[in-house]
Amino acid sequence: MPMVVDANRVASDVAPVFRPGLEGVPATQSAICDIDGLQGLLTYRGYPLEELAASSTFLETAHLLIWGELPTTEHLRAFEHNVQMHRRVSFRIRDMMKCFPADGHPMDALQSSAASLGLFYSRRALDDPAYIEAAVVRLIAKIPTMVAAYQLIRLGQDPIQPRDDLSYSANFLYMLTEREPDPLAARIFDQCLILHAEHSLNASTFSARVTASTLTDPYAVVASAVGTLAGPLHGGANEDVLAMLEQIGSEDRAEAWLDRAIAEKQKIMGFGHREYKVKDPRAVILQGLAEQLFDRFGHDGMYDVARRVEEVASERLGPKGIYPNVDFYSGLVYRKLGIPRDLFTPIFAIARVAGWLAHWKEQLGANRIYRPTQIYTGAARRTWLPQDARNALPGV
Ligand code: COA
Repeated sequence: MPMVVDANRVASDVAPVFRPGLEGVPATQSAICDIDGLQGLLTYRGYPLEELAASSTFLETAHLLIWGELPTTEHLRAFEHNVQMHRRVSFRIRDMMKCFPADGHPMDALQSSAASLGLFYSRRALDDPAYIEAAVVRLIAKIPTMVAAYQLIRLGQDPIQPRDDLSYSANFLYMLTEREPDPLAARIFDQCLILHAEHSLNASTFSARVTASTLTDPYAVVASAVGTLAGPLHGGANEDVLAMLEQIGSEDRAEAWLDRAIAEKQKIMGFGHREYKVKDPRAVILQGLAEQLFDRFGHDGMYDVARRVEEVASERLGPKGIYPNVDFYSGLVYRKLGIPRDLFTPIFAIARVAGWLAHWKEQLGANRIYRPTQIYTGAARRTWLPQDARNALPGV
């Protein structure tokens, strides 16, 4: 069992150890998600991801993550209804989004619009379960609407209203493309959301928990997490994987391309994970979803390149425990669904908001503000010098 240090006592005689990236350092206790990185197993609240992806829906999984149990039919219907009722976004937020630059990144647009919700829903009552539920519903309902709205706005069109007769995922694809999606496409998209909904203390979730620990509002919590997710070492990698596959271009070029990249110490996007030393179980499921889409809607030659890259990169990097992660196949799925590349990471955010909110709620349940220490490596104490004296220093 890991040791829990009494929060009020700090052992002053133990020299602090610096672990870059906090590798292996438990920064919280959590009952939400468990990863076995050696066997490639992932559970949400004890349920294997494979079972949830096969049988659950994103909203049911979000309920499980946030409230800890699979909902009864009555609770699920109520949750789905509430989300449906809150999907619309104020015209003021839409007008604000119309002022965003059309060539900005949709993750920046999402971060700004998520943060703006705090202006419109400024009441903060973190000890009121009704407030928590309302904030959860609002964020899960409105984030997809804001992603779809920015997509249409940057194309010079007006956002379209959600459709109440469509499921959560079908409605998002409809708001994005103005076409009702094929049921298989909508189901596969929903499964993608399940797969991305939670993943323990990754960088954006840690960011969410740090922000939550200050007792700020949940919109600031989600906005800070969106900003963290955007980077290429985290959620942003799914965009870069497709760029890499396109650059490689064909199966027969993969080996030489990878050998050069590895020799130049480049990171292969969509490979490697701090927690997994085997192929990420989400990548396994996503690969199967990609194949279902190709069977139904036509093959994508980039998939052949991806499989060859996986084969060669696993040979070269596998001995170091580096295998495909969640981002390796997700881009191929989204591309087949007709989703623009720079929306891949906002879609990751649509899913991960469930995990962020579960961690927000858990953090509030046993809160202590995050305030780690540091090991100072700067100058020893010195005296301020007037400019004349500074200018006269040798070497200036
Ligand atoms: N390609 C090539 N080498 C990789 C690699 C990759 N994708 N990921 C890790 N490595 C190598 C590093 O070069 C390093 O090698 P070294 O010990 O010889 O110097 C070693 O593996 C450890 O890498 P490090 O960056 O310290 O691991 P980390 O745990 O800090 O980083 C990631 C984890 C995910 C950030 C990292 O694997 C990565 O940058 N992957 C590519 C981006 C990506 O796909 N991100 C999405 C994650 S879901």
